[in-house]
Amino acid sequence: MTEASTAYRIAVIAGDGVGPEVVRESEKVLDRISTIDPTVGFEFDHLDWGTERYLRTGSMMPADGLTLLRSYDAILLGAIGTPEVKDYITLRGLLLKIRFGLQHYINLRPVRLLPPVTSPLSAGTPSSIDMVFVREGSEGEYAGVGDIIARGTERETALQTAVFSRYGTERVVRWAFEFARDQGRTLTSVSKANALEYSGGLWDEVFDEIADEYPEVTTKRLLVDAAAMFMVREPERFEVVVASNLYADILTDLGAGIMGGMGLAPSASLNPERTAPSMFEPIHGSAPDIAGRNQANPIGSIWSTSMMLDHLGYPEWAAAVLRSIEASLRSPVRTPDVGGNATTAEVGDAIVAHLKL
Ligand code: NAI
Ligand code: MG
Repeated sequence: MTEASTAYRIAVIAGDGVGPEVVRESEKVLDRISTIDPTVGFEFDHLDWGTERYLRTGSMMPADGLTLLRSYDAILLGAIGTPEVKDYITLRGLLLKIRFGLQHYINLRPVRLLPPVTSPLSAGTPSSIDMVFVREGSEGEYAGVGDIIARGTERETALQTAVFSRYGTERVVRWAFEFARDQGRTLTSVSKANALEYSGGLWDEVFDEIADEYPEVTTKRLLVDAAAMFMVREPERFEVVVASNLYADILTDLGAGIMGGMGLAPSASLNPERTAPSMFEPIHGSAPDIAGRNQANPIGSIWSTSMMLDHLGYPEWAAAVLRSIEASLRSPVRTPDVGGNATTAEVGDAIVAHLKL
């Protein structure tokens, strides 16, 4: 592997629950690529970060974890979280620390119906369910600013402050405009300025200002509640969608639902300036209800790995991985969530077997 002319160093944070089960299949896919094309190689470093480490040492990741991650070309993440530890500890102690710390301000989330998967929407077809969410990943509602005051009294009050900087809003909105322009697709902005006049107001103002610079991009604006309704009733309205951290988190779970399930949906947490490695992760969590049974669908993870290949400069391999995923879905080798009875590893093997440029 190390003899490859280009060897990428990948940090693997498999994490909790089904995380290790699905990430293993992504590694198989990358290993297969380096066998077919010996000029490219992948070296995996498995980091034992996650809840087990937290229970053993009191921290989800080492204090110098971000510095360590900076030495890698990319990060593959499985999923984080267990019922034994409060989710805010696992989320903030690892996932958000990495996304915020490495300036992953773009969280790219395709929502696409891959045939022959059927959508629970009667109007859902591969052409109507074909959108990409550009989720803000470094601030917004997940900034972690707040307090609980008057704790333990009848006036106990929780404060959770959303942080929308002009700088942070401009960079994600601008990225989304460039992306929509390059793809020749419409751009929908989702906010909630009627009730959230400060954060939503600034978001809309920035969106309108930047829209003036991109007259070639057709834009739409929706309130988040209406967006949820239209995603179900008229999914074809949505092509590229830009939204804040929380709204896009929620809408992309809805997206996963209409594209056939949590196990399929991919994401890329990108540092567009490449000042730090980007992270590739399925959108699902650790799925404690099915963990340990070799039943989790590895497609969300493998599709995220396809996005990593694109990011590293191998668009042909990225497309080849997606074709193999589609071929596996057309075969009987599918996990239970998409109507089959194959195991996680069998689906990974099937995708590997279909792989060719
Ligand atoms: P979840 O995404 O883990 O599970 C929701 C549903 O989707 C479950 O029924 C699960 O079985 C199913 N599912 C998830 N991944 C699947 C796969 N690969 N194949 C087939 N079915 C799959 O969300 P949930 O249950 O709300 O959260 C569980 C834990 O995960 C919590 O601790 C939560 O904080 C954490 N979490 C972590 C995330 C991450 O690491 N990126 C994202 C979301 C939740
Ligand atoms: Mg989520």
